[in-house]
Amino acid sequence: MKIHHVGVAVSDLDEAIALYQKVFGAELVHRASTDELTAAFLQAGDAEVELLQPLRDDSPVGKFLANRGPGLHHIAVAVSDIDEAIAEARADGLEMIDQEPRIGLHGTRIAFVHPKSVGGVLTEFVEA
Ligand code: CO
Repeated sequence: MKIHHVGVAVSDLDEAIALYQKVFGAELVHRASTDELTAAFLQAGDAEVELLQPLRDDSPVGKFLANRGPGLHHIAVAVSDIDEAIAEARADGLEMIDQEPRIGLHGTRIAFVHPKSVGGVLTEFVEA
């Protein structure tokens, strides 16, 4: 198992980036946005921290932030073949949120596994 990144929901992205830079000396490596959220990736050894600020209250991260406040949102596991990872997860009886891979903020294929299938932790497969 290889952790690709850890996703953290934040209410103010620039403030969160500054905090990680100040506290951990983290290096900002990538920023990306969709119509639902804006994100920043900070290098953390072999993995990254993905800071997520929702841009809409009715988006999944917006609802998460409203219900639970800022904090750990998901972990992402690197997989070499995401089609195979999804097929194996299904064969193991896991519930997928994404039935088909989609393009993530890194420009690679991703798919989310339902938290109830993995001990309450929202889990993302990232093809890497
Ligand atoms: Co992610």
